[in-house]
Amino acid sequence: MKLLSLLPSLALLLAPLTTAQYTNPGECTGDCWSHDPGFYQRVSDGRYFRFSTGGGIYIHASNSLTGPWEAVGQALPGGSSVDHPGNTNLWAPDIAHNPTTNLYYMYYSISTLGSRDSIIGVASSPNLTPGSWTDHGALFHSVANGPYNAIDANWISVNGRQILTFGSYWNGLHQIPLSGPLAVEEGAQPVNIAYNSTGNHAIEAANVFYRRGWWYLTFSSGRAGNYDTNLPAQGMEYRIVVCRSSSATGGFVDKTGASCLTANGGSTLLASHGNVYGPGGQGVFQDSTRGFVLYYHYANPTIGLSRAQYQFGWNVLKWSGGWPSV
Ligand SMILES: *[C@@H]1O[C@H](CO)[C@@H](O)[C@H](O)[C@H]1NC(C)=O
Repeated sequence: MKLLSLLPSLALLLAPLTTAQYTNPGECTGDCWSHDPGFYQRVSDGRYFRFSTGGGIYIHASNSLTGPWEAVGQALPGGSSVDHPGNTNLWAPDIAHNPTTNLYYMYYSISTLGSRDSIIGVASSPNLTPGSWTDHGALFHSVANGPYNAIDANWISVNGRQILTFGSYWNGLHQIPLSGPLAVEEGAQPVNIAYNSTGNHAIEAANVFYRRGWWYLTFSSGRAGNYDTNLPAQGMEYRIVVCRSSSATGGFVDKTGASCLTANGGSTLLASHGNVYGPGGQGVFQDSTRGFVLYYHYANPTIGLSRAQYQFGWNVLKWSGGWPSV
């Protein structure tokens, strides 16, 4: 009773500042927990796989995007082979498929909260299932007092050149070219592609995709969590931001033309609304029947605000003038 009577006031407290209308998340049945999801629709049979962060990397699978979703196990249940703090608590999986090797690659983060002494590692699998993953260890690392944090990787292929986008806080989002799925190009240095010069520089979780002549950079802006213990000021919680460029490797601007690197640009794609609070950790994939789909996690105040209660959200993107909306 007490809990129920608290809910309306909590909902009021969490009411978003903006009047922007967003479509509610698509249907999800079964086990819909997710945190910092990586996502892939398997090439061979169209089955959906969702990878989430929670003291390891958990895999959920379903034959339909709407569910029923089932927890099927972990990727790298023993952690990473890399000897580094955080190696049994891997984060922020990103899933890519290489048509040449017909293998799936999972880029993961090894770090501890608030540290830039971090590593991006990689594992591969023929079919995305638990037990099928081979760890290949570290790709590259960042240092404790450096300008960037080697976490939150996202893989893209640009005219055959493989590029990882990564980063979180500090100097923001960066890219580094790879010589193949398992190694950084020799001598390559990270290049800054997005930065928020204000506050505590809270942008992270980059995801890049291509559509009709434009490369889109999405990221999460604001505070990711601890909503259950310390609610952020209204509007300072996670939201999903988009920028675009005709190049995959820089020149990203928002809808007003403001640079996302030098002018704190970024257009909101999805922010808190209704029972969706703090959406982020997002990515975009091309569904076999629905077109471009945004996936993310969010807190539903009627379920709870802790990371262990975050829900999986997805929306088919709508397009106007070459910009996506939810
Ligand atoms: C940049 O950070 C400030 C907080 O310092 C925030 O108000 C603003 O929305 C952020 N902008 C982007 C594009 O992330």
